Amino acid sequence: MVSKKIEDAFNKQINEELFSAYLYLSMSAQFEAMNLGGFARWMQVQAREETEHAMKFFKYLYDRGGQVKLAAIEGPQTEWKDALEMFEDAYKHEQKITGLIHGLADLAEKEKDRASLLFLQWFIDEQVEEEKHADEIVQTLKQIGKASHALYMLDKHLGERKAD
Ligand code: FEO
Repeated sequence: MVSKKIEDAFNKQINEELFSAYLYLSMSAQFEAMNLGGFARWMQVQAREETEHAMKFFKYLYDRGGQVKLAAIEGPQTEWKDALEMFEDAYKHEQKITGLIHGLADLAEKEKDRASLLFLQWFIDEQVEEEKHADEIVQTLKQIGKASHALYMLDKHLGERKAD
């Protein structure tokens, strides 16, 4: 059985993960509007992954005798200047999520909840990857600058992302 504190904090994280999905879907929509189908697909796969993250918390709460309480999801930003601004925001967002996950691990430690701590380890590892991938694309976009052919090539490459 999870404590009330863990239950509340994990419920908040479900909301954060679903907001992440919403944010990336919003970025995907803007990429579609910009006719950059590869970027749009990358963001859609990312959005799906975020929903899966939310579902991991969802399932875990029930496995531990807790209860899921869903709350309203905040509306995401809907317009960005360009691809670089979107990926910079995605990177910043992942850094924020990493902070939240680490906060949950601190709480699990305080509550002496070893099962939750173990559960959170997957997310701690995942956040290393999440930040790395977003930052790599930021750096590539910075190198590309406004060279439209290179942007086209990156778009093709991102379009090859497989769903996990
Ligand atoms: Fe669910 Fe992108 O972290």
